[in-house]
Amino acid sequence: MTTIPQLTLNNGVQMPALGFGVFQTPPDETRAAVAAALDAGYRHIDTAAAYGNERQVGEAVAASGADVFLETKIWISDYGYDETLHGFDKSAAKLGVDRIDLLILHQALPSEFGRTLEAYRALETLYADGKVRAIGVSNFMVEHLTALLDKATVVPAVNQIEVHPYFTQPDVQAFGAAHGILTQAWSPIGGITFYRDSGHRSTLDDPAIGGIATTHGRTPAQVMLRWHLQQGRSAIPKSTNPERIAENLDIAGFELSAEELAVLDGLDTGRRGGPEPADITLAAFGRPIPEA
Ligand code: A2P
Repeated sequence: MTTIPQLTLNNGVQMPALGFGVFQTPPDETRAAVAAALDAGYRHIDTAAAYGNERQVGEAVAASGADVFLETKIWISDYGYDETLHGFDKSAAKLGVDRIDLLILHQALPSEFGRTLEAYRALETLYADGKVRAIGVSNFMVEHLTALLDKATVVPAVNQIEVHPYFTQPDVQAFGAAHGILTQAWSPIGGITFYRDSGHRSTLDDPAIGGIATTHGRTPAQVMLRWHLQQGRSAIPKSTNPERIAENLDIAGFELSAEELAVLDGLDTGRRGGPEPADITLAAFGRPIPEA
């Protein structure tokens, strides 16, 4: 079984650098996918209240008996101080745990940033009470991080953002690095680029990435994951296929050169695959998170 390197968060908590993602994994497939991931050696699972599969993640983890780092996210519909405290209760109950390892805000709500700040204040309370081991954010841009740090007493441990070779957000990464906020990559092998309109190829078919993969006798996905880890990021690749789940964890035993890392950095198109963070509103994206 592969040993996964650990990253130390800004509060000293250790987190496996590679986590297993379950975004868009339907609830009925989640248990099997998480079981395959735990079997392959993953010990960090990333889910979210909004994914609707926390219960199945919890069941798979409980069935395995493994000690697993659990990360989940509060959805925008549960922002506000009391609402977010209750959001923790819902997620913890669905996951079947008393304490969550890493709890993050899923998005900034730029048009109602006060609500975002109240949600974060609830995370700080949960942290002070020992109900979560670390707190953080997701999809926060530099202006959101700046506004948050102005009010926060706990610096977020993590900012989970879209990072793959076609979209690297260097400004957000640099701001995080300067403030002790670890960048965690979602869609780390560029899955979000696979289904785009024609004319824009997928990262998996990129000739430069393919060339580096051939040099090392590895797959494009393994090269991209290695790039994240060598640059100090956490990454949460997702797959429902047991071979690819194992392939994505099998990234020890080769090292990308500085030139190869620069080639990957140079593929950035500046074109986001996910929703524009500035456009996230309750009207457009709000939906109730069910009780446990
Ligand atoms: P599948 O579940 O069939 O494996 P990302 O996490 O970057 O968004 O990528 C997720 C997408 O990439 C999913 O469509 C997943 O499909 C696919 N995928 C995951 N791992 C690999 C891999 N090693 N090689 C090719 N495709 C992969």
